[in-house]
Amino acid sequence: MNVVALNGSPRGKNSNTWKITEAFLEGLESAGEHTITRVDVYKQKIEECHGCFACWKDTPGVCVIMDDMQDLLPRIIEADLVIWSFPLYYYSLPSKLKAFMDRLLPLNLPFMEETSDGSITHPRRFDLSHQHTVLISTCGFASTKNNYEAIEAQFAIAFGKDRLSKIICPEGELFSIPELRTRTNEYLSLVRRAGSEYTEHLGISEALQAELEPLILPAETYNKLADASWGLPGPGTKTDTGTGEGYSTNVPDPGATGDPSAVLIRQMAALYSPAKLGGKEALLELNFTDLGVTHRLFLGARECTVLDGEAPIPASVSALNSTRVETPFTVWKQISQGELDGARAMMEGKYKVLGNFDLMLKMDGLFSGPGSSPSTTERPPAASRDNTAKKPTMALVILPWMPLWIALPISPVAAVYATLATLALCQLAGFKWKLGRHERITFALVTIFAAAAAAGVPAGILLPLTYLAFGAHWLISCLGPVPLTADYSKAA
Ligand SMILES: Cc1cc2nc3c(=O)[nH]c(=O)nc-3n(C[C@H](O)[C@H](O)[C@H](O)COP(=O)(O)O)c2cc1C
Repeated sequence: MNVVALNGSPRGKNSNTWKITEAFLEGLESAGEHTITRVDVYKQKIEECHGCFACWKDTPGVCVIMDDMQDLLPRIIEADLVIWSFPLYYYSLPSKLKAFMDRLLPLNLPFMEETSDGSITHPRRFDLSHQHTVLISTCGFASTKNNYEAIEAQFAIAFGKDRLSKIICPEGELFSIPELRTRTNEYLSLVRRAGSEYTEHLGISEALQAELEPLILPAETYNKLADASWGLPGPGTKTDTGTGEGYSTNVPDPGATGDPSAVLIRQMAALYSPAKLGGKEALLELNFTDLGVTHRLFLGARECTVLDGEAPIPASVSALNSTRVETPFTVWKQISQGELDGARAMMEGKYKVLGNFDLMLKMDGLFSGPGSSPSTTERPPAASRDNTAKKPTMALVILPWMPLWIALPISPVAAVYATLATLALCQLAGFKWKLGRHERITFALVTIFAAAAAAGVPAGILLPLTYLAFGAHWLISCLGPVPLTADYSKAA
């Protein structure tokens, strides 16, 4: 297919909508060969239509304005598919794209033609019967209602609803938040599928449309997040008598201090998933060492509250459910954007955790919105997911030693048999738990000691050596990047 994709966002490549359009184009290309022309409309020299009708009477089919439309119009005429990618601006098109649309006038003849439903249109000057249209758009609200009605009607009338497919994505600004990449990537995968379906059927199936329909975040969460993103005071409470001055704010101004971490903190609060804490409450104190600021987040059973300034700590908070993280803001940001693995960064001493460590183990997904999945960066690749799904348990590093430690002083023969039985059971446990290198080292050491006991080495010599071997195993693991015990905490 000959495809022209119009990027109608003034943000160019940083456009939320264009991210969706690129995914659609990837899908198209995955299923067939296409010639794709990408047009950054805002970079083109496109004047507004003069309304002179010269393209109808003096120079039929040709506009008299000498700008980039001279080159673009023939491309549109030849296109089998025109993709209109744009953000919703005032329930309509961004102005430059509207200027582009107006400049399509030469495609029509001036005459009045009655359609089958009795409405009037202009006949086409060129044969565009091969042409289809895809409308891809994002908007800032969490709903299409009272938002997209005008644009949908406009496109259906202008390009024919039978040849029109639509991908309309509310909550478009989520595509600009790296912390939510997991969520937005899921949406983009669906769009890729839509692109490949389109290559085959010149349309998007109802089933896939239904999959694209649900909001990326619940509207309530999105609205909170959107409000938090501005770093501005919350909605004003009018306190004067109508002069328009004297608005006071009922939400403290996170940006007033010039603290660059204030917006992220409020976004975290908006994206808090109480379900991750199973109804429990906790206090998370974030001390950004490079900024010299500390933020306190009260993680309640239903929502997260940022405790500003001197705000009192709720009575339910004690040392047992308080966690303090001391970290440079840059590190915290990298972790929340999925660029740095949180557990690894901690092992490498990039940040410090004081107080209740349990909260850190639940951190993944705690601030990704309700019903969230862990970030993509920490997800194992699909192919290896089954193998790595099993978790290790430290019991399998301690249990094999027990028969030797308990039975060796009493009966070396019993110790040998009990060790063999335990090792066999541990192997069976491998069906449920992961048997990693620490387990394999343990099994090997225990087997050597059991063999020595069977060979008649006195228990008085063997027993201290088993303690020594166990201790050495742990000590040597401390020389590596992740000590033995921390390895298990990380997996938990
Ligand atoms: C001038 C202007 C008008 C807007 N009008 C609307 C609107 O009517 N409805 C809406 O939901 N969002 C509106 N928005 C929000 C944008 O549609 C939204 O931020 C979009 O995701 C931006 O996409 P882009 O990154 O592709 O430009 C408006 C934004 C601007 C700058």
